[in-house]
Amino acid sequence: MLLKSNNFIPVDMMTDLDAATELAYLAKRIAELNRAYYLADDPLVDDAEYDALRHRNEDIEAKFPHLIRKDSPSKKVGAELAKSDFSKITHSIPMLSLADIFDFAEVYDFDNRLKRFLGLADDLDFEYVAEPKLDGLSFSALYVDKKFVRGATRGDGQVGEDVTENLKQIEDLPMELVGDDVPERVEIRGEVIMMKKDFFALNEQQLASKQKPFANPRNAAAGSLRQLDPRITKQRKLSLFGYTYGEMSYMPWSSQYEFLNKIKSWGFPVNPEIKLCKNVDELVSYFNDMGEKRPFLDYDIDGVVYKTNKVDLQKRLGFVARAPRWAIAHKFPPEQAKTLLEAIRIQVGRTGVLTPVADVTPINVGGVLVSHATLHNDDEIKRKDIRVGDTVIIQRAGDVIPQITGIVPEKRPSDSVPFEFPTHCPICGSLVVQDPEQVAKRCSGGLICPAQAVESLKHFVSRDAMNIEGLGDRNMAFFYEKGWIKRPSDIFSLEINYGSIIRRLEGWGNKSAENLFNAIFKVANETPLEKFLFAIGIPQIGSATARLLADHYVTFENFLSKMCIAGNLVNEKADEESTQAYQELISIDSIGPIVTTEILEFFQNEQNLSEVKLLAQKINILPFVKSEITTKLAGKTVVFTGTLEHMTRNEAKAKALASGAKVSGSVSSKTDYVVLGADAGSKAQKAKELGINTITELEFLELCE
Ligand code: IVH
Repeated sequence: MLLKSNNFIPVDMMTDLDAATELAYLAKRIAELNRAYYLADDPLVDDAEYDALRHRNEDIEAKFPHLIRKDSPSKKVGAELAKSDFSKITHSIPMLSLADIFDFAEVYDFDNRLKRFLGLADDLDFEYVAEPKLDGLSFSALYVDKKFVRGATRGDGQVGEDVTENLKQIEDLPMELVGDDVPERVEIRGEVIMMKKDFFALNEQQLASKQKPFANPRNAAAGSLRQLDPRITKQRKLSLFGYTYGEMSYMPWSSQYEFLNKIKSWGFPVNPEIKLCKNVDELVSYFNDMGEKRPFLDYDIDGVVYKTNKVDLQKRLGFVARAPRWAIAHKFPPEQAKTLLEAIRIQVGRTGVLTPVADVTPINVGGVLVSHATLHNDDEIKRKDIRVGDTVIIQRAGDVIPQITGIVPEKRPSDSVPFEFPTHCPICGSLVVQDPEQVAKRCSGGLICPAQAVESLKHFVSRDAMNIEGLGDRNMAFFYEKGWIKRPSDIFSLEINYGSIIRRLEGWGNKSAENLFNAIFKVANETPLEKFLFAIGIPQIGSATARLLADHYVTFENFLSKMCIAGNLVNEKADEESTQAYQELISIDSIGPIVTTEILEFFQNEQNLSEVKLLAQKINILPFVKSEITTKLAGKTVVFTGTLEHMTRNEAKAKALASGAKVSGSVSSKTDYVVLGADAGSKAQKAKELGINTITELEFLELCE
């Protein structure tokens, strides 16, 4: 490389020539990092390193304003918008994920669970299809009148990106299905992968053209499919296999195995390693066989998938959260490697928690280049006595952040010293504190700590929170550094205060600025209460808890006033009203004392309270809308009693929940329906006494529709 960073020269000591040389280097390097991050889905460095380069650029520019370049990174916000240039496709049937298991005991548990759910004997043979778990990127391909018309990525499972043109470049994908029994509309889903040989060839090319090689075939496949220019997809050799389906006008199969054979007969590629298994023991042998074959396969797999074969049984088993109950992924054990621990760095998160991160000499662990690993917390470092200079064992499993499982004691240098956790925040210098009941150490700086401020802002706009498109991590950090957004409420004055500057930013343009302001306007106009409660970043409150709170308090005004009243307890100004409000909060299902205290303390903090109030003035926070389920059972409370004949208890409960009902174990005046099985006893009696509707199993099933 001709250009070089002079990182070691303090800015104050730089000559014009030094500054100009380094600014040229930084402009080139940051542009390269942006391209990798935003366009190739493959960051070259971590966020800290990227931020350090941007800071360095700004420091030099501040001292040498006459040398600011036309293509300076400080004038650009990044290539971020390119990412969302794909148009969106809403999946008419969501693309689900799979629950993971890791050992054989769990395979037997899975088999038993299904049989129990369906009311079958434990020792019965239950049929499965076992498939390799392909390590690529899932896709959905829609065929109408046998012709391929539209393709999408999974996205978040509900909404994916339109990659029709890119999929057309993949030779394996039939443009037309052949056969007399192809439904008028049929959506075939599967995995786009890159064969190992194509991956190696691509990396050779990348190196020859001085571009960075891809870390593994999965990244290469994802980066190649999600290309705005389909010609690039065409140059990259991709492959694919079908393994499931979405919508269709009629279903010409009654089992997974029939489905696979059917699409194969229509010309759609199906993985040759798939096997029909008669019972759970055959799943275990399949797993072992595939483990042995794995190194010799032409493509990467990270486990195997077991699927209930019969479609009618799949339907009865249904779904839990975003995964089918009838299928599961059995992952191969994590892979390990040894490397040198070069440094321990402290990261500061949104709530001030300090997380130690290990910087290690980059090493390939199971096909992925690892250069960092989490060390969790100070206790963990002490417990394992991990020291800088140690040779450490790195382990990774799937997408999980790599971990350090231990050290190699013989390799410890004689002069090594135990790691000392900092007593002050490395970002803002505030004192580090530790709650006696928690392992985590926190920076006490609150929002005066830039790290906490930026992380909370990123959280505020993130997808599951306010979901403001165009305000991704990099842009947010940029606006924060500029001082344009210091706290969430500033977002809603961004256009008024800085609109004209932003519209003129190079690399940003009028259109992207307009998109951003429109996105902000949209959320200001209407934000569901549950999203707002998650966005404000109360420690311990994830999106599920935020939803429970919204469901309970319904409106923002009601929620806030109750939190302030209950908060008096924390302040030791207890009275009957505050005790009652406290009781109300803690009695919400799955909200315990720790979460309760976090919520109340959050609103007792003056800064938080005034910021939340300010936000509420700027945002139209919509009251919680109870589930959109429109069955006759929605919102009703159901009790089951007696022996059910058409389904098991678990199946019945799952059906009721899926239809929006609550299930209770005992009959009370709040019960709406009591479903009577055979030999119903005291509960039936009680229902009669209280005048509650009793219904049969079949009537129950009708109400579920
Ligand atoms: S079936 C409803 N089969 O694994 C069934 N998925 O963890 C949903 N995957 O998003 C998926 N190989 O990207 C299925 N043979 C296989 C698979 C497979 C790989 C991926 C897929 C999915 C993820 C779920």
